Amino acid sequence: MKLRLATALDAPDLARLENTQTLCAHWGENGWKTETAQPASIVWCAEEEGQLVGFAAMRVAAGLGEILNVAVHPNYCRRGIAFSLLSKLLQEARHQSCEELSLEVNIRNRAAISLYTKLGFLEVGRREKFYNAKEDALIMRISV
Ligand SMILES: CC(C)(COP(=O)(O)OP(=O)(O)OC[C@H]1O[C@@H](n2cnc3c(N)ncnc32)[C@H](O)[C@@H]1OP(=O)(O)O)[C@@H](O)C(=O)NCCC(=O)NCCS
Repeated sequence: MKLRLATALDAPDLARLENTQTLCAHWGENGWKTETAQPASIVWCAEEEGQLVGFAAMRVAAGLGEILNVAVHPNYCRRGIAFSLLSKLLQEARHQSCEELSLEVNIRNRAAISLYTKLGFLEVGRREKFYNAKEDALIMRISV
C-alpha cells in the first residue's frame, strides 16, 4: 500500500471510489476538485497497484481540525488502510499545532465508530436526527 496526498487530479478516482461505499459523504468529481483546492483541506489517499482504494479528508482552521470524509473500497477493507490514513491526518493535525480533531458519525456505523475509538477518539455528544432527519450522529473528538 502506498499513501500519498491527493490533488485535484485525483478527483475522478475519488468520486468513483466514494461510490463503492454508501456510508461516506458523496461529493462527486466537482466536489472533490473544490475540496482538494481548498487551502484548509488535507486529503490523504491510499493506492494499491496504482489504483486508489481509500481516502481520508480533513479541514483545519483556527487550531481545530474536522474529519469530513473517510472510505476504503470494499475489496480492501480490514487491512488497516483507514487506520493508516487517519494516522496521517492526526500527524498533520499535530504538525499544524491543532488542539483537537472532531468528527460526526452515524450512530449505527459500528465499523467507523470502532475505527475512531481504536485511534483514541472519544464520544463527546450526539446530534439527534442528523442524517436524513432520521438517524442520530455521534460527535467524537481527540486531543492532538
Ligand atoms: C469504516 C471504514 C473506513 C474502515 O476502513 P478499513 O480500512 O476497513 O479499516 P481498518 O482495516 O483500518 O480497521 C481499523 C479498525 O476499524 C475497526 N473496523 C473496521 N472495519 C470494521 C468492521 N467491518 N466491523 C467492526 N470494526 C471494524 C476495527 O476496530 C479495526 O481494527 P481491527 O482490524 O484491529 O479490528 C470502511 O469500512 C468504510 O469505508 N466504510 C464505509 C464508509 C464509512 O463508514 N466512512 C466513515 C463515515 S463517518
